[in-house]
Amino acid sequence: MSPTYRIASIPGDGIGIEVVAATIQVVEKLAKTLKTFDIEFTHIPWGTAYYKEHGRYVSEDVLDTLRGFDATLFGAVGAPDVPDHISLWGLLLAIRGPLQLYANVRPVRTFPGTKCPLNTVSSGGIDWVLVRENSEGEYSGQGGRSHLRQPWETATEVAIFTRVGIERIMRFAFETARSRPKRLLTVVTKSNSMRNGMVLWDEIAAEVAKDFPDVTWDKMLVDAMTVRMVAKPQSLDTIVGTNLHMDILSDLAAALAGSIGVAPSSNLDPTRKNPSLFEPVHGSAFDITGKGVANPVATFWSAAEMLSWLGEKDASKKLMGCVERVCAAGILTPDLGGSATTQGVVDAVCKEIEGLST
Ligand code: NAI
Ligand code: MG
Repeated sequence: MSPTYRIASIPGDGIGIEVVAATIQVVEKLAKTLKTFDIEFTHIPWGTAYYKEHGRYVSEDVLDTLRGFDATLFGAVGAPDVPDHISLWGLLLAIRGPLQLYANVRPVRTFPGTKCPLNTVSSGGIDWVLVRENSEGEYSGQGGRSHLRQPWETATEVAIFTRVGIERIMRFAFETARSRPKRLLTVVTKSNSMRNGMVLWDEIAAEVAKDFPDVTWDKMLVDAMTVRMVAKPQSLDTIVGTNLHMDILSDLAAALAGSIGVAPSSNLDPTRKNPSLFEPVHGSAFDITGKGVANPVATFWSAAEMLSWLGEKDASKKLMGCVERVCAAGILTPDLGGSATTQGVVDAVCKEIEGLST
């Protein structure tokens, strides 16, 4: 009997709603065609409309609700009339930390149909995996504000780095590097000017590296890393860093690979105690919401990563093959210079999927 996966679908806001709907069509088509697994999506309405009605972005039993599923497919959160720190903490950060989805994995590859803007790469383009610490660091939410509206108004934002938190992400990154042909890991810190937490990162990297003698690794300061990504992209493969540093570097990486519209991400609990969450890197993109032109490829790729995490590696590969063939055929949304609509891309990918059965 083929397994059935139960997926929580949280489209959220803006184009999140459009790209998740597109992805559900494609994944359901894949399941129906391959017949090797079943998949059921359950719609969860959390987002800004829910917030305006209930005064909160998620229901009170958010964690138990999500624990009832095998994984979550997430769109995006953010609306023009709600401050971004309210929406982000209200929804996405209310899930990532409490569910201990501590590894944020962002593969970055120059995709057929996209163009790497660098003239420093060979024709193969970029192929990296960025691993972002996703549970602590600069985004721990520690800090506060005092002396409100006084000239000496004060705000603190305290970064938290723990041995447990650093060691587990470091092991995950070394394992990721080991699973790739180059077996190459770059550890990003800022241990010259940040002399506590970042020095602990460096120390733990050196300790963990001893358990991975088959992985070559090096260290970079984050500012110099931006230069290396642009000037010597071929010298990189797997990259690990803190929550803040990798948030920024992964947007740079997505832009270097061609477009944020194709960049996927996985928020993983590698212990598998909690269901992991899969989402495109991009946000809710108010500027194109409702126009039917959002690129669904980042969410397709995120769903492929989800299938792979659930154990459906073959289905995942086949889905990516179909998406790549559609992009290579020039069926592209306007962000990639094409004229296709979101639904046009969905239809083309579904047609490729139909072809898998013959
Ligand atoms: P954004 O990623 O929403 O948009 C940046 C630019 O890229 C826009 O010009 C947009 O049209 C374009 N773009 C993004 N995704 C695209 C796609 N799939 N197809 C075609 N074009 C695409 O980032 P922005 O504008 O900084 O943020 C908008 C809202 O989204 C804010 O409220 C922000 O807080 C939120 N946000 C949420 C994220 C999440 O839920 N994980 C991540 C990033 C931003
Ligand atoms: Mg970001």
